[in-house]
Amino acid sequence: MNSTSQPTALITGAGRGLGLALARALLSDGWRVIVDARRTAHLAALAASGAVVVPGDVTDPAHRDALAAAVSGPGRLDLLVNNASELGPSPLPRLADIPLAAARRIYETNVLAPLALTQLFLPLLRASRGTVLNISSDAAVEAYEGWGGYGSSKAALDQLTAVLAAEEPGLAVYSVDPGDMRTEMHQAAFPGADISDRPEPETVVPALLRLVHTRPPNGRLRTADLTEASA
Ligand SMILES: NC(=O)c1ccc[n+]([C@@H]2O[C@H](COP(=O)([O-])OP(=O)(O)OC[C@H]3O[C@@H](n4cnc5c(N)ncnc54)[C@H](OP(=O)(O)O)[C@@H]3O)[C@@H](O)[C@H]2O)c1
Repeated sequence: MNSTSQPTALITGAGRGLGLALARALLSDGWRVIVDARRTAHLAALAASGAVVVPGDVTDPAHRDALAAAVSGPGRLDLLVNNASELGPSPLPRLADIPLAAARRIYETNVLAPLALTQLFLPLLRASRGTVLNISSDAAVEAYEGWGGYGSSKAALDQLTAVLAAEEPGLAVYSVDPGDMRTEMHQAAFPGADISDRPEPETVVPALLRLVHTRPPNGRLRTADLTEASA
């Protein structure tokens, strides 16, 4: 497969968790996969599996330019997955107590970085009639105590997603709530708790792949719905 016929995905935050699981699955399906994360060591295995790794922080404009340079190699982008996310302080503070600097950091990572990456890659995504997949959370729609910073950022991400879908009818545009997963972020949300009953992030991947391949109507989806729909 040469670089122009090979579908290409950019997945942010793929050093661990859901991003890593999705990157592995797309690589084994023959995709060209470009990934980032801040901790370089966590990207080594993906690099060895053929991913293009660009270590860095999605909130850093210079890093986003480096991602654009990596994507400009194939000159094609079929799938942008805004997965990298900031939970904020652990234990989760109430709104009365959340430091504004922490709230700002959450919004920079969960809202503004996905918006900036979308802006950066819209020309290529339009050309491929590609897919934007923004990873959301049930905290975007449920009012859990302590989740105001993160949850409101995911609500903002959901609304950006909905407006983008209205503005870009040629694209497939989704926000997806993956449900609880046994990951570093989930452990940080429940410090000291036994989270071994939560499903592994790999269990969510088949629903995401189905979404990309079947292109259902745009919207906000839960992977649980996607799984039930195909059952
Ligand atoms: N786990 C759950 O139960 C759950 C539930 C609902 C929604 N979600 C959502 O699912 C997505 C994946 O979460 P996860 O649980 O798989 O998280 P995770 O295991 O903690 O992995 C997050 C990945 O993102 C990277 N990352 C974080 N901030 C970054 C930044 N600023 N720039 C670049 N990379 C960054 C992390 O690496 P570095 O730290 O090295 O950068 C890591 O590789 C997130 O959008 C999350 O909000 C998770």
